[in-house]
Amino acid sequence: MLKFWMAPGGLHIEPAEPRDARDMARIHALSFYRGWPSAEFESFLADRACLTYVACDARRRMAGFALIRIAADEAELLTIAVDPKWRGKRVGRALMDAAFADLMLSPARRMFLEVDEQNVPAIRLYKRLGFEAISTRKGYYPRPDGSAATALVMARDLG
Ligand SMILES: CC(C)(COP(=O)(O)OP(=O)(O)OC[C@H]1O[C@@H](n2cnc3c(N)ncnc32)[C@H](O)[C@@H]1OP(=O)(O)O)[C@@H](O)C(=O)NCCC(=O)NCCS
Repeated sequence: MLKFWMAPGGLHIEPAEPRDARDMARIHALSFYRGWPSAEFESFLADRACLTYVACDARRRMAGFALIRIAADEAELLTIAVDPKWRGKRVGRALMDAAFADLMLSPARRMFLEVDEQNVPAIRLYKRLGFEAISTRKGYYPRPDGSAATALVMARDLG
């Protein structure tokens, strides 16, 4: 079945393909202190438990992606990243909405994620999507200065 969701800025969302690993690693590296190598994205893309969505233009130039893993009745947002050029245009929200549409048809009944407690844009996005903070994990994210940031664990029901 062909899957295609409209997104802002003339973009659309579709499921990722194996050839997308390199662009995902590029956007991830632009977005996080510790980027993940392309090979890591290749293995997520080959994992049937993972749902991966890309936001791209008609020429399939990638603006962002979201990666979700399902385990029994739980879904976990492993990562989401939007190219800095495209941020603030509701691309992140469109990626998550596409994922929710598919998750409704999956066995997952609840979704979890972890986010740096100082990551204001991401926390606002998640709250807008109905996630609530349920706990914290201290010393979770390494920082360039050697310290470690606290993670907020957030969750929302699906369906
Ligand atoms: C977090 C991220 C994916 C959001 O993507 P985005 O496409 O810029 O977000 P959207 O434009 O869809 O914004 C959706 C909501 O998030 C919030 N938001 C987004 N950017 C924001 C910012 N800079 N400041 C405050 N709130 C922000 C807003 O509430 C917004 O809703 P609104 O426009 O209706 O007010 C993007 O900032 C990013 O890639 N950041 C770096 C990677 C990252 O931190 N990922 C999350 C790790 S857990």
